Amino acid sequence: MASLFDPYTLKGATLRNRIVVSPMCQYMAVDGVMNEWHRAHYASLARGGAGLVIVEATAVSPEGRITWGDLGLWNDTQAEAMRPVVDAIRDAGAVPGIQIGHAGRKASANRPWEGDDHIPEGQPHAWPTIAASPIAFGGDLARVPREMTSDDVARVQQETVNAAIRARDLGFGWLELHMAHGYLAQNFFSPLSNTRSDAYGGSAENRARFLLETLVAVRKVWPEDRPLAVRLSVVEFDGNEAMLGEAIAMLSRMKQEGLDFVDVSIGFNTPEAKIPWGPNFMADICQQVRRDTDLPGTTSWYISKPDEADALVRDGKVDLVTLGRPVLANPHWPYAAAKALGVQNPAWATLPAPYAHWLARYR
Ligand SMILES: Cc1cc2nc3c(=O)[nH]c(=O)nc-3n(C[C@H](O)[C@H](O)[C@H](O)COP(=O)(O)O)c2cc1C
Repeated sequence: MASLFDPYTLKGATLRNRIVVSPMCQYMAVDGVMNEWHRAHYASLARGGAGLVIVEATAVSPEGRITWGDLGLWNDTQAEAMRPVVDAIRDAGAVPGIQIGHAGRKASANRPWEGDDHIPEGQPHAWPTIAASPIAFGGDLARVPREMTSDDVARVQQETVNAAIRARDLGFGWLELHMAHGYLAQNFFSPLSNTRSDAYGGSAENRARFLLETLVAVRKVWPEDRPLAVRLSVVEFDGNEAMLGEAIAMLSRMKQEGLDFVDVSIGFNTPEAKIPWGPNFMADICQQVRRDTDLPGTTSWYISKPDEADALVRDGKVDLVTLGRPVLANPHWPYAAAKALGVQNPAWATLPAPYAHWLARYR
């Protein structure tokens, strides 16, 4: 029976423990380029002891950013600025991962502290949005996106492949495709935002096509020995009972096409959802997805207590525990958890191996 501090190996990636730093937008980039903020932030998260640190949602094109402060990976300047961060994560003993995606109809938004709403058209930072169908998200994100043509579909898929190549060449050890949270991939997958009448709309199989094709294209360039993951919204909490089954069927197809891992998440594709927030509330759904797809997986959302995180792994609900806000509040959460769980030499358990080995002489 595995526990939170057992190592985890998937293909060529070995994590020192089962703790994952969830991708979390910092909204601090200019022109998609990392800066001192990101260098300090990611080094501190990795130094905090997690097994896998996933760099925030990184856009595959300028139009694919959620806000103008998002990271990008569509040019060499952005890639070069990322290199020291990849190295710092690895040097601190964690596997460096990255999430890439396109924000679809939720793109062109103000940064959260500036309103979190669509930037009014015509303002300097605003740009036109695209999505599966010309349907606005609603609420503060009221802009109607332009419906994507088949050329747009091919272009965004190629941009995703290009970003994956850059991530590969930077030495990231784990790639996550962002197919959740109401962004472009999910705009295609969900009938709430996809009313197309071509091969990308209508049946569940057609709505899955954009996601599946993108995965297949990325798998061709992403090395076989490095895990390829998706973060997928499997439930919307809007009364759509069919969504979970459709998601499981699509993930099973993706597994056949080379998908290695799934981060099970929530829709956020409508402001109308009634989400049953509470501690660990996605864990049972994660277990079901793992069981029905035979894919290893994780989930996040309100997991914050070390004993509960450990129990999720021990009870087989998740393979890895993914944390967001708890590690923002305390990057040394893994050390505190190791201590709370009675792991021998907790500080050493969260250090890079050679350093821990040397320090252990002074226990
Ligand atoms: C500041 C912030 C930024 C986030 N950015 C992303 C992101 O870039 N990609 C993503 O998939 N989820 C993002 N999320 C969601 C987190 O990855 C995580 O799933 C969520 O916070 C729930 O985990 P928690 O309860 O441990 O915080 C973000 C969350 C926060 C708080």
